[in-house]
Amino acid sequence: MQEKEENQKENKEMEKIVSLCKRRGFVFAGSEIYGGLAGTYDYGHFGVALKNNIKQSWWKKFVDNRRDMYGIDAAILMNARVWEATGHVANFTDPTEDGKQFNVMFKTQVGAGEEAATSYLRPETAQGIFVNFKNTVDSFHPKLPFGIAQIGKAFRNEIAPRDFIFRVREFEQMEIEYFIRSTDWEKYFEYWRGEILDWTEEVGIDMGKVHELEVEDGDRAHYSKRTIDFEFDFPFGKKELLGLAYRTDFDLKNHKLEYIDEEIGEKTVPHVIEPSIGVDRILLALLASAYCEDEKGGEVRAYLKFKPSIAPVICAVSPLLKNKNELVEYANTKVFAPLKAEFGRVIWDDNGNIGKRYRRQDEIGTPFCIVVDFDTLTDDTVTVRDRDTGEQERIKVENLKKYIQEKI
Ligand code: GAP
Repeated sequence: MQEKEENQKENKEMEKIVSLCKRRGFVFAGSEIYGGLAGTYDYGHFGVALKNNIKQSWWKKFVDNRRDMYGIDAAILMNARVWEATGHVANFTDPTEDGKQFNVMFKTQVGAGEEAATSYLRPETAQGIFVNFKNTVDSFHPKLPFGIAQIGKAFRNEIAPRDFIFRVREFEQMEIEYFIRSTDWEKYFEYWRGEILDWTEEVGIDMGKVHELEVEDGDRAHYSKRTIDFEFDFPFGKKELLGLAYRTDFDLKNHKLEYIDEEIGEKTVPHVIEPSIGVDRILLALLASAYCEDEKGGEVRAYLKFKPSIAPVICAVSPLLKNKNELVEYANTKVFAPLKAEFGRVIWDDNGNIGKRYRRQDEIGTPFCIVVDFDTLTDDTVTVRDRDTGEQERIKVENLKKYIQEKI
């Protein structure tokens, strides 16, 4: 009985998140006007903004702010031999309901007629990194340890896509293959475990809902000697958010790739630690972490408590009344335009009364709403309303940039 009630509560929370995502333009069902396509979703304006902020924060921390990381953006279509070499053609399968093993790679044809060759849409971005190992070494001459990072689409013909954007057939991954000497693998496994946890916290995931699962022998992917799944308490249960694996030298060996380790003067095959993160799952975990309800003015309000650094919109600018030219003119030229030029993630909102605008911005997760009213015209101050507390302050227009800068 208690379990049933718990499930109903969880389903309700998920329903609320899904409907907010559609209503506010975060995520739509794929091909919706044609009845949809299972396991596919389209991201609307604020969903794209949130996704971009997630990806930029990852890239900044793991590529831009480091000296030992090289970026790559490899093709999604790869020579079929890649997937034969890695064991994906033989092993990347899930059992169907009646126990037949089903390969979840999407097969396609490249070229026309007799020239056509079988190819696969990549089921992980990792192989785009491994096949460019030699190119990266030849171009940049990195010393061990070093990493190659990639953000991109991956595709899996999941037998049972489910739970909104949690398990889909087309998704994005942020992956790092970190190349090390075999003797160092435990040290770097621990190191990446810490780095990944730091990033998930930085981006705004509720860390009280993150749990580590040591994946047992027999349950790990065919290439991994040790894996930790970082799970998250999604509204529909505790499920994998991201993974950390020790892939040994499995991939480089299978691609017959080597490295000359100048420090020891030998040819070696580096080993690999791989932190692998699904963008869509992070986005869903962020929505679940940020979704809050409280009561304002006797009504239940829903809001997304995103960190300002990750929120799709940093602030919304409104003239108190949209039919008063002097307010609109001031709001547009002296507040909106300079803030937009500075922060980019700034929107104009003059639709409905102020209460409605606040509710809408709360649901988008906008940390600050700025209102230009009649006092503004005489004293050059505006109202800045805080999303979480609903409190309002008067701020000098000339101090707005600094005020927002300090908050992010
Ligand atoms: N290169 C290693 C790899 O791909 P994985 O555990 O199969 O490992 C890594 O996938 C991450 O990609 C997962 O932790 C998850 O975040 C994301 N992911 C995997 N399959 C997914 C799917 N069908 N839908 C959404 N995200 C998925």
